[in-house]
Amino acid sequence: MLLENRVAVISGAATENGIGLATARLFAEHGAAVALLDLGRQHPDQVASTIGKAHKGYVCNVTKKDECESVARQIVEDFGHVDVLINNAGITQPIRIMDVKPENYDAVLDVSLRGMLYLSQVFIPHMISRGKGSIASTSSVSALTGGGFFGGPHYSAAKAGMLGLTKDMARELAPKGIRVNAVAPGMVDTDIRGDLMSKETFNKILSTIPLGRIASPREIATVFLFLASDLSSFVTGATIDVNGGMFIH
Ligand SMILES: NC(=O)c1ccc[n+]([C@@H]2O[C@H](COP(=O)([O-])OP(=O)(O)OC[C@H]3O[C@@H](n4cnc5c(N)ncnc54)[C@H](O)[C@@H]3O)[C@@H](O)[C@H]2O)c1
Repeated sequence: MLLENRVAVISGAATENGIGLATARLFAEHGAAVALLDLGRQHPDQVASTIGKAHKGYVCNVTKKDECESVARQIVEDFGHVDVLINNAGITQPIRIMDVKPENYDAVLDVSLRGMLYLSQVFIPHMISRGKGSIASTSSVSALTGGGFFGGPHYSAAKAGMLGLTKDMARELAPKGIRVNAVAPGMVDTDIRGDLMSKETFNKILSTIPLGRIASPREIATVFLFLASDLSSFVTGATIDVNGGMFIH
């Protein structure tokens, strides 16, 4: 049990096959109480109850500062404290540079980057008051390679922005006892791509992965478990690659 008596908040956590829910389940197995955040259409409250009584779901659009603020107040009231924040909400769009319209830019940057900023901002004062905390966020291998498998250039930019924000927050918050890290997954077996990727493209990508397969959501969750727990007590400002060798640098 690596997270006994810990409270973890995870955004984008209520989609059945997603990285967020896999992380919530794994954290629960390790003794944490988990607050699952997601859009209303994902019914986070119902999903949380499938993990167990100790867990709660909250509707929160991470692009809205006021929603982040009110949900943070409610979570601290409900659970008493928060130890871990996982910024995982994200969307992607497989389009090319000249097709990125202002609304595409806003949609993709807002969920990943603005969402990470807002949700972190609403929990940081609480973590500072306790002198401890761990924040980890879901970036992407796209941030490091310049895309190459699914998302557009605005997705790569959003995910790269998250790495810059992670490093800056890590530097500023280390003296307060808060660690801040990022995970950069390669291709993961979730529903985020919808049916927008052809079998041919999928197989082409597969051929670039030395381990010869894509990741399960749980294989990303285990890295978040490491970052959330004391196993990573001297790790901050890091980006952890979880890509089956797709990008070795
Ligand atoms: N699947 C992959 O191959 C892959 C690879 C690298 C990075 N990622 C990243 O992993 C994260 C999780 O994605 P996933 O693959 O599990 O897909 P997913 O679609 O299952 O998860 C994304 C979650 O974010 C939620 N979300 C979207 N907009 C939101 C908003 N405004 N506020 C709150 N929640 C919102 C969705 O409802 C969903 O639950 C994303 O940030 C994604 O960019 C995924």
